[in-house]
Amino acid sequence: MEFSKSLVLFVSVCCLVVSSINAVPISRSQSLSVEVAAAPTPSHGHGLINGVVSKAVPHLAELQDLCKDGENVDLCIETIAPEIHGALDPVHAAIVEIGATLNETLKVSSIIRSLKEDPKTSKGMIDALDICADQYDLITDTIAMSLELMHQNDVAGAWTTFSAVISCQSTCEDAFKESPGEAFPFADDSKTLFQLGGNTLAILMRLNGETSPY
Ligand SMILES: *[C@@H]1O[C@H](CO)[C@@H](O)[C@H](O)[C@H]1NC(C)=O
Repeated sequence: MEFSKSLVLFVSVCCLVVSSINAVPISRSQSLSVEVAAAPTPSHGHGLINGVVSKAVPHLAELQDLCKDGENVDLCIETIAPEIHGALDPVHAAIVEIGATLNETLKVSSIIRSLKEDPKTSKGMIDALDICADQYDLITDTIAMSLELMHQNDVAGAWTTFSAVISCQSTCEDAFKESPGEAFPFADDSKTLFQLGGNTLAILMRLNGETSPY
């Protein structure tokens, strides 16, 4: 009870920063998913990942199906496949992709810390980095809460909570867009985070549909 109350407060704080309600990241994610779905999807019988035919990926067809609405299907399969031992449990797969998102978040947080400590970093850059540092702290907390909810079998709660990851990721990117002249120093990692987060949301959405009582 207390936990879910603080959760609601927390999510609204994160979304207020974005100056929009949480419907925005979800619809953005959905429109991107439509583009992804419209693109030809690899449907080979063997593991074709990053353009390289790797050794057979166990459960490839099931993983392709589970990941198909994600932002980066290959990345989704690549991150989840090594963690599947035995049958493919979609809840476990979601937890693994949340973990992959957390790892990428911690990587970005560490880049931000190094840049902030670097005396050569400009004042304008520091201002944007300060915003990003806050957003990435919020992402870390959001992911921890989502994992907690998954372990309580609250997939719907985890899905709602996790959508804040995408809001916070965009808020950080916007901090750089609004500082012309400041290059975005971790553009690739930010994009990877967006893709891992989008993959996670897509899996949670499917799980939610499957477990919805309605
Ligand atoms: C996240 O990082 C930990 C520690 O390095 C590693 O053991 C784990 O496999 C990573 N998770 C994923 C999904 O890549």
